Amino acid sequence: MIRVGIVGLGFMGKMHFRCYQALEGVQVAAICDTDAARFEGQGGAVGNIEGAEAPLDFTGIARYDDFDRMLAESELDALSVTLPTYLHKPYTVKAFEAGLDVLCEKPMALTVADGQEMFAAARQSGKRLQIGHCIRFWPEYAAAKELITSGRYGQVTAATFQRLSLTPGWSWQGWILDGGKSGGAAVDLHIHDSDYVQYALGMPKAVFSRAARGPSNDYDHIVTQYLYDGDRAITAEGSWSMAPAFGFEMSFHVVLEKATLVYDCTRAPTFKVCPTEGEAFHPEVASGDGYSNEIEHFVKAVRGERVAEIITPQQSIDSLRLVLAEKRSAAAGELVYL
Ligand SMILES: NC(=O)c1ccc[n+]([C@@H]2O[C@H](COP(=O)([O-])OP(=O)(O)OC[C@H]3O[C@@H](n4cnc5c(N)ncnc54)[C@H](O)[C@@H]3O)[C@@H](O)[C@H]2O)c1
Repeated sequence: MIRVGIVGLGFMGKMHFRCYQALEGVQVAAICDTDAARFEGQGGAVGNIEGAEAPLDFTGIARYDDFDRMLAESELDALSVTLPTYLHKPYTVKAFEAGLDVLCEKPMALTVADGQEMFAAARQSGKRLQIGHCIRFWPEYAAAKELITSGRYGQVTAATFQRLSLTPGWSWQGWILDGGKSGGAAVDLHIHDSDYVQYALGMPKAVFSRAARGPSNDYDHIVTQYLYDGDRAITAEGSWSMAPAFGFEMSFHVVLEKATLVYDCTRAPTFKVCPTEGEAFHPEVASGDGYSNEIEHFVKAVRGERVAEIITPQQSIDSLRLVLAEKRSAAAGELVYL
């Protein structure tokens, strides 16, 4: 039995909790949160994902408001770090010093230097560091990645990715709407698509971004062109400046030489392949969602099972590097080379 701890029981901490609870051979043994009200068992934080509000049962789980005590007393094997982003580094480094494997939420950190420190601590401890880039595990995105890399439909000539959200009003002490603590929507939300662009197409040579400031007083609506050799047209748009009634939408179009791949979370079925010849069809995709799949992957790896290499710490640092380059491009109004 793998003994897991969670630090930070907000929107994502609760999500991790539910995903661990659904798996065999893993036990959430301890949870730490400085806000006692988080343990009252309500879903509480709502976030922008449906179905996250069901009540939780913490019976038999050790509860802490002091992280050091949890580490000292709970005999954990692994830890989920689901704290506000500006706290990821110190808690992750401490967990490695205590000899745990760590699944830390994305974005890895707010600076590349902090991400590198986290990776160095992981290497020093010999333990696993997985960053929560759940879109790599999201069934439709994973299916698209497989179709792209298989070469079945030729090369990607163009692609566009969108992630648009109402303004997040649910975070603890409003940290997410403080650009200094979250990096704004560019770093917090849009990084999902920057990371996927890197995953599916490799690191671009350069980026050109336009961005608007929003409620976090940072870039909360960003549109980026990712530049590669050749004529590819690759763009992504991320925002949490949408009106409340808009809710949340994520989607993509990937244009290959012999097919167009379409995903839209608001449609059913969500994923469609449109070959250049013949009818469109809806391929089967894996079950679950990106959260449950990434957590299952983490647990398997902690257990010592062989798992595919889906997300590495270096790629997580590179995604941060990419999104920070996008912000610099927006600020300077010019291309930024990577
Ligand atoms: N993968 C995704 O799709 C996704 C979605 C949302 C958020 N996130 C990321 O997850 C992380 C957490 O975001 P969230 O929305 O859950 O935040 P949140 O505000 O809902 O929750 C943060 C929790 O941390 C607790 N906390 C704060 N300081 C603490 C401390 N020192 N010790 C223990 N607990 C402490 C708070 O009480 C709160 O319960 C962020 O990095 C965010 O970017 C990822």
